[in-house]
Amino acid sequence: MSNRVIIFDTTLRDGEQSPGFSMNIEEKIIMAKQLAKLNVDVIEAGFPIASEGDFEAVKEIARNVKGPTIAGLSRVIIKDIDRAWEALKFAKRNRIHTFVATSDIHLKYQLKKGREEVLDDAVRGVKHAKKYTNDVEFSAMDAVRSDIDYLCLVLEAVIDSGATTVNIPDTVGYAIPYEFGKMIKTIKENVSNIDKAIISVHCHNDLGLAVSNSISAVQNGARQVECTINGIGERAGNASMEEVVMAVKVRRDFLPYITRVKTKEIYKTSRLLCTITGISVQPNKAIVGENAFAHESGIHQDGVLKERTTYEIMTPESIGLTKSRLVLGKHSGRHAFSKRLEDLGIKLNKIELDKAFVRFKKLADIKKEIFDEDLEVIVEDEIAKAEEVYKLEYIQTTTGNQTLPTATIKLKKGKQIIQDAGIGDGPVDATYKAIERITGIPGKLISYSIRAVTGGKDAIGEVVVKVSFNGELVTGKGASTDVIEASAKAYLNAVNKVAGKTKVKRVKELKSPRV
Ligand code: KIV
Ligand code: ZN
Repeated sequence: MSNRVIIFDTTLRDGEQSPGFSMNIEEKIIMAKQLAKLNVDVIEAGFPIASEGDFEAVKEIARNVKGPTIAGLSRVIIKDIDRAWEALKFAKRNRIHTFVATSDIHLKYQLKKGREEVLDDAVRGVKHAKKYTNDVEFSAMDAVRSDIDYLCLVLEAVIDSGATTVNIPDTVGYAIPYEFGKMIKTIKENVSNIDKAIISVHCHNDLGLAVSNSISAVQNGARQVECTINGIGERAGNASMEEVVMAVKVRRDFLPYITRVKTKEIYKTSRLLCTITGISVQPNKAIVGENAFAHESGIHQDGVLKERTTYEIMTPESIGLTKSRLVLGKHSGRHAFSKRLEDLGIKLNKIELDKAFVRFKKLADIKKEIFDEDLEVIVEDEIAKAEEVYKLEYIQTTTGNQTLPTATIKLKKGKQIIQDAGIGDGPVDATYKAIERITGIPGKLISYSIRAVTGGKDAIGEVVVKVSFNGELVTGKGASTDVIEASAKAYLNAVNKVAGKTKVKRVKELKSPRV
């Protein structure tokens, strides 16, 4: 049996469906391209029947993202499978991932069907999917709480019908590692045709055991792990991709398996997801948390300075984390600037580079030390601005504990300059009211977060907002050394996405049930 573990990334399906993590099509494509750079084997791009937005996203990813296999989810229902294929057919390598629940609890209360009927549905679904593609994955939802004999019967039947991967989900995050490993072993020993399919696992993290369960499954014969970046996903999330991959890499002595993941892309991918969704990982998150490589206690610092391996089991560089370095200052020229961007793997066209350089010079006037993180923010901000309908020309706010917070804003729309003022509960609220008066686009601020991109009092502040425009949730980002200006830019970025509607198609909320 091969020792290679297939990494199936479901950030854009199971991850994206959890509250607060929804992404628009453009954001999904950016994320999918980064997942391709990370070299995951399979990208589950969405659930095409669920909504028009999901369908479009899967189709665009299938069209535009090269490298990994692109998978789309479907129930074992014929029209679901047809819809999945409509979106997936554009990919060079595609997979239909079809599922039905197999536990008695789901059969009785949700499906209201008997075991025989569900078995027939599963077989029919797989056979139908097989007409479209050779690569068909079948998932037995809630496998962990299913009767093991019935589960084995279903797996045998779907493999006979052409399933090339059989997935064993711990849908409710109930399993314990030893128990789950044993279950995989039982499947391997009792499903007569199991050698014709790859065993996959899909673990949820309700008890915090998703990664441990996945590893235990691999030790017992599973060769595909379904996981997400930063462990996002339904409820407490899915197994975290970076933890599974790094556990296998770091403990090669005990876990003699390999993945194809380019681990140096891990940090960047994790950060990209945070930037897109506006949701950060907790500082103590394994592998990608802010503190994952920070040594605070004196004894630890002393040890690491003498010999890194005293307290570090992997290097920050192995996940692509380079130390924040002073790279450029206000005397740095265009050549040094573009060279540094190149070293960071950022490619810009001439117009973007010109804009980013002007922005860099302005920043260098305010901020003495420009770090790599600052450069990344400048570039992101400048590129996001390319689609601007409304451009921030001027902002002035007045605030204090004895005065009514007021904001005066000037926006440019084409050649027109529009100015207005707003009052609010604070300077940010006043700013948003003024923007709303000018643009006439009413929005409801759902969430607001701010972080300092680098250390120091002169750090760039990056603001991420989620704004609801008529029920449509849009994320906006903005950065500046002035936090009110960053707040205005973030809000305006969200407004521009709605105003420039033809360019950005929103992913509508799902009408069908999520899984
Ligand atoms: O958790 C689950 O069971 C799922 C399946 C659709 C694979 O997400
Ligand atoms: Zn799931």
